[in-house]
Amino acid sequence: MNDQAQNNDLTKMLVTVASGKGGVGKTWFAATLCQALASRGKKALLFDCDFGLANVDIQLGLMPENDLGQVISSEISMLEAIYPQTESGLSFDVISGQSGSGALASLTMESLISLGKDISGISQEYDYTVMDLGAGVENSVMTLARASDKILVIITPDPTSLTDAYAFIKLYRMRNEKAEINIVVNMAEDQTEGRRAFDKINKVCQSFLNLTPKLLGVIVRDKHVAQAIRSQTPLLSKYPQCKAGENVIEIAKKL
Ligand SMILES: Nc1ncnc2c1ncn2[C@@H]1O[C@H](COP(=O)(O)OP(=O)(O)O)[C@@H](O)[C@H]1O
Ligand SMILES: [Mg+2]
Repeated sequence: MNDQAQNNDLTKMLVTVASGKGGVGKTWFAATLCQALASRGKKALLFDCDFGLANVDIQLGLMPENDLGQVISSEISMLEAIYPQTESGLSFDVISGQSGSGALASLTMESLISLGKDISGISQEYDYTVMDLGAGVENSVMTLARASDKILVIITPDPTSLTDAYAFIKLYRMRNEKAEINIVVNMAEDQTEGRRAFDKINKVCQSFLNLTPKLLGVIVRDKHVAQAIRSQTPLLSKYPQCKAGENVIEIAKKL
C-alpha cells in the first residue's frame, strides 16, 4: 500500500480509549493524544463520554456552555455541543460530558445505540475523534465502545489494572468477535516495565480468549503530567519536551 492509500484508509477514525479500571490516566491520555494528532496537522475532536466522572473540561481548563447531557435531553444537537478550538484556545475541538448525571447513566439500550450512531456521524467531520469512555464494564460503556473503529485499552503495571482491563477485553470480545485490541501501558517506570505489563495481559488474552492484542506504546510515569493537570493546561503546551508527552506523540504516529 502506498502512503497516499494508507492516509485515505486512516482518515475519519473514531478511536475509543477504554480501561476497565479508573484512575489509569484515560482522560489525560485521550486529551494528550488529541493534542498530539492535532500537532501532526490532523483535525481532531475530543469526545468526553464518561457518564460517571466526565472531567475532560476540568483537566483542560475549559468552561463549555454546552455538553453531552443537553444533547441527550434533546435540548441541542450534537453539532451545537461542539466547543470549537477557535473558542477553547486548544488545537482541537471538544464535546464535554456531564459529570455525575444520573440521566446519562440510565439511558436505555436504544438511546445508547442511537448515541453511538450520532458519535459515528460526527466523527465523519474529523480525521480523528478520540472518545474518553467511562471506567467499568457496564452496558453503557460496552455499547458505546462498539461504535469505535479502533479500541485502545489503557493499562498500568498495577495488577488490579490488568485484571480489570482483562475483564473489559473479554466482554468486548464476546460482543465483537473480530475486534482488534490495542494496548497502551501508562505510568510505567520505564519501557521494560511497560513491556512486562503488556506481556502479562498478552499471555492471558492468548490463553483464554485466543486473542493477541497489539502493544501500541508505553508511557512512562512523569511528574509533568500531574503538574499540567493541576494547572489545567494540555501537557504538550506546558511541557512539549517531557518524556510522557514524547511517548504519546509516538503513539499518535502509529495510529
Ligand atoms: N504518565 C503519567 N505519569 C504520572 N502521572 C500520571 C500519568 N498519567 C496519569 N497520571 C495521573 O493519574 C491521574 C488520573 O488520571 P485521569 O486521566 O483522570 O485517569 P482516568 O481518566 O483513567 O480516571 C492524573 O491526575 C495524573 O496525575
Ligand atoms: Mg477519566
